[in-house]
Amino acid sequence: MFWHAGSEVARDEGSAAVPQHIAVSLRLTGRFFQFVRGCASLSRGIASNFKVVDWKGRAFPQYAAAKPQWPMDINGRTILVTGASRGLGRTLVFAFAKAGAKEVFAGARKKEDIERLKSDAAATGASITPIKLDVTNDDDVNATKSLGPIDVLVNNAGVAGYGNPASMSLDSATEEMNVNYFGALRMTRALAPAMLERGQGMIVNVATAFAKINLPIVGTYCASKAALLSLGQAMRAYFAEKGIHVMTVMPTTIDTDMSKGADVPKMTTEFVANQILRHIREESIDPPIGEEAEKVLEGLRTDPIALEKMLSQIRA
Ligand SMILES: NC(=O)c1ccc[n+]([C@@H]2O[C@H](COP(=O)([O-])OP(=O)(O)OC[C@H]3O[C@@H](n4cnc5c(N)ncnc54)[C@H](OP(=O)(O)O)[C@@H]3O)[C@@H](O)[C@H]2O)c1
Repeated sequence: MFWHAGSEVARDEGSAAVPQHIAVSLRLTGRFFQFVRGCASLSRGIASNFKVVDWKGRAFPQYAAAKPQWPMDINGRTILVTGASRGLGRTLVFAFAKAGAKEVFAGARKKEDIERLKSDAAATGASITPIKLDVTNDDDVNATKSLGPIDVLVNNAGVAGYGNPASMSLDSATEEMNVNYFGALRMTRALAPAMLERGQGMIVNVATAFAKINLPIVGTYCASKAALLSLGQAMRAYFAEKGIHVMTVMPTTIDTDMSKGADVPKMTTEFVANQILRHIREESIDPPIGEEAEKVLEGLRTDPIALEKMLSQIRA
């Protein structure tokens, strides 16, 4: 996502309406897109094609082996998605159900969202079971341990504030870390032990391509996603040889409440969900999602300083 003014966490430096300085930032965002479009040609599928090698160029066995001992078929799997009340999470749970998942646990915080998910699932015959799940609440998180074996955990729940990190509300920045980073860590700590015991499973973290390079208008949000991306690498180091695959997906702007008011190109939740399902099947490693995300990574490879300079103009 590029910026967010509509959320409950975007308080001190923005309101639901797009302020003038944000409009300027959005024009600069347009320039950013021009910049990335001008970058060298896309290298599609970078993430799924690269090889992880040691300093002598030998492939690391745990990643090189990557075509899994446990071929990932969504059909028949049990999946848990956090933040499924709306946006990408909601689309994901229906996409997993449509792809033949045995059961999809859909985490939501509010009673009315749980009820709505229940009735929508019943109306379509989807095998979706809504559960109360606030990823900052230890009781909710611990309760997921008793749901039975989970094959795939999708850490999707997220919040975003915007503003100058030096002057925006500290509460907003703290909530981003609590949900986006510690929420994913809490969920992983709750569910990974059973995956390790069974020697199989997958953990999918939803970050952003701006976890790789900061977009200052949502600087603290990007920092929380950078922490999540880094955490995913650590989890992979500990889990890969034990049959658990960890990936962090990196989309750019998706058309959800989170990007409401941002006049930039947006991907549909359906497109992003389908890409995530594809990467799950392929057991990709930290894939960019969508053309812009690929271009961000391309810009980072070809001219990271120019990219940072361009992004530095996109401020609150
Ligand atoms: N939209 C974008 O442009 C974009 C781009 C890249 C990555 N992403 C990432 O994609 C993921 C989904 O975002 P979205 O665009 O679908 O946003 P969204 O429409 O704002 O939905 C956010 C979801 O997270 C849930 N959530 C927030 N705090 C939570 C908590 N403490 N515990 C459990 N659930 C919580 C929300 O639940 P409530 O309904 O209860 O608030 C909601 O279901 C996020 O991780 C986001 O950072 C989004």
